Amino acid sequence: MRRLPIVVLISGGGSNLQAIIDAAERDQLPVEIRAVISNRPDAYGLERARNSGIEARVVDHREFPDRESFDRALQRVIDSYEPELVVLAGFMRILTPQFVEHYMGRMFNIHPSLLPEYRGLHTHRRVLEANGNRHGASVHFVTSELDGGPVVIQAEVPVLPGDDPDTLAARVLSQEHRIYPQAIRWFAEGRLELKEGIPHLDGKPLHKPVLIEGKGHDGGSAESRRS
Ligand code: GAR
Repeated sequence: MRRLPIVVLISGGGSNLQAIIDAAERDQLPVEIRAVISNRPDAYGLERARNSGIEARVVDHREFPDRESFDRALQRVIDSYEPELVVLAGFMRILTPQFVEHYMGRMFNIHPSLLPEYRGLHTHRRVLEANGNRHGASVHFVTSELDGGPVVIQAEVPVLPGDDPDTLAARVLSQEHRIYPQAIRWFAEGRLELKEGIPHLDGKPLHKPVLIEGKGHDGGSAESRRS
């Protein structure tokens, strides 16, 4: 089995990274994680990488005078591993247009909302404040528009009575752990690509993301193609 070389960028706990590592170790995801890179030296995800024998690197944004020089240094480190896909997994930095352009069509991000709703930060709190009854997560190709790149797959979860930002975040996160490996698998298998700004799955344009409906707990889901 050919394994797609990838590099994963993190800033924090790295539970999405763990889901990717676990899927790869179970042979359910044909990727070789060549490195995990964090902009924060204390990110727990670095330990997760080391525990699985994956190279863990830090490019600390505080050591650079501006965004451009940080992104250039980060790009050099990423490219030294020659990845075919860059996976942003809780990487909490705004990227420069040059950086984004360099990885166009070969960089994914996961965002905790049903994009285009709730771009930006504190999505769980904002959904609750708006009395929303549904929430979720999206995997998208990265473009220079923040959280605005074309979405490939989404998982929807209900907002339940009594939810606070933490309970809602946990429900969303468990779905993130399903959809991120799925999107990466499609890409690794050569089934998913970005053509003229539109994601194509199995050669067909995905005008709407694939939607997975979570049940609000771990019990099953339904997947539907909405295109
Ligand atoms: C995830 O919920 C991810 O969607 C979010 O950060 C969390 C990282 O968790 N990303 C963003 O908000 C990006 N704007 P993890 O470190 O446990 O994977």
